[in-house]
Amino acid sequence: MYKQIGILTGGGDAPGLNAVIRAVVRTAIGEYGMNCVGIEDSFEGILGETHTMKLTFKTVSGILPRGGTILGTRNRGSFVKMVDGKPTFPEMPIGEALANLDILGIEALVVLGGEGTLAIAEQFHKRGFPVIGVPKTIDNDLAATELTFGFMTAIDIATEALDRLHTTAASHDRVMILEVMGRNTGWIALHAGLAGSADVILIPEIPFAFESIAQKVQARERSGSRFTNIVIAEGATEVGRGEIYLDTEEMRLGGIGDHVRRRLEDITGKESRCVVLGHLQRGGSPNAFDRMLGTNFGACAVRALASGETGKMVALQAGTIVTVPLSEAVANIKTVPTDGQLVRTARDIGISFAAPKEIPVS
Ligand code: F6P
Repeated sequence: MYKQIGILTGGGDAPGLNAVIRAVVRTAIGEYGMNCVGIEDSFEGILGETHTMKLTFKTVSGILPRGGTILGTRNRGSFVKMVDGKPTFPEMPIGEALANLDILGIEALVVLGGEGTLAIAEQFHKRGFPVIGVPKTIDNDLAATELTFGFMTAIDIATEALDRLHTTAASHDRVMILEVMGRNTGWIALHAGLAGSADVILIPEIPFAFESIAQKVQARERSGSRFTNIVIAEGATEVGRGEIYLDTEEMRLGGIGDHVRRRLEDITGKESRCVVLGHLQRGGSPNAFDRMLGTNFGACAVRALASGETGKMVALQAGTIVTVPLSEAVANIKTVPTDGQLVRTARDIGISFAAPKEIPVS
């Protein structure tokens, strides 16, 4: 049994991080008598002079409903270098981090993160350091788990935004466009679009044609609905075109919503507005589901470490938490299946994905 384990949070924050931290600490100390050390600002906290904090029942008291992460996080740093658009892991920071973990007396790590952070965690495992990953991201794009924590809260926030846009769209007879996050996947747009009764859902997995969006707007107009609500994923693309970035150097997606608004206004002549939901999707308190999932993930991660597992990620499969190899979790991102049940359901109830040949239903 380990005497002391470390925990860190990496990548963009997501509602539920503190719920996992709390569960890890309570399980490690309460159930297994291990000490817990929080590593600050992701893996960066174990470089140089190191930044850590002792975690106790007291330090995690009251953090379950709190947004963000008490440990701090980074979604850029020294451990990954992009070479020709591909992530590579330079030897130097990992060697230094392993030496520092030894000095700090940290014998194993629980790493909370998305694809990028878990790929770094896998490098530690490959060098013989015990690691268990916990899948975090509002994007829900991690393979091998049905859900990541943070996603359901993001859906709630995006759904509420759509509900609010609905009433103003209807009052002004406008086209309202909501741009949501999700990187190169459409999970947030699809789920929020269904829950928030969008008329058009634009996702990266189904490139769109402007004519198809315009046809949907016009078909609604003819049937007496003089407004249209559109939800668009930040990574959505027009057929034959690439993504739109706010910052091409850092590859920060954003701006597609306003691009669609301008073109659509030109084509349809209808007054249109775009709202970018942005980091509101990541901030604030986790919903009940994410608190529950995060707590279950956290406790299961410690149980996995305590039973000698390493190089694994806890994952939700068929309603149960299992462990899967980290390599499986980071091999590919999970995209929306375009022939899947949810896309089919959306189409059946008249939602358009604005694919080139799609016949719009009013
Ligand atoms: O991966 C989470 C996420 O919120 C994405 O949906 C989004 O593209 C990105 O992070 C934004 O990153 P940043 O916080 O650096 O703007």
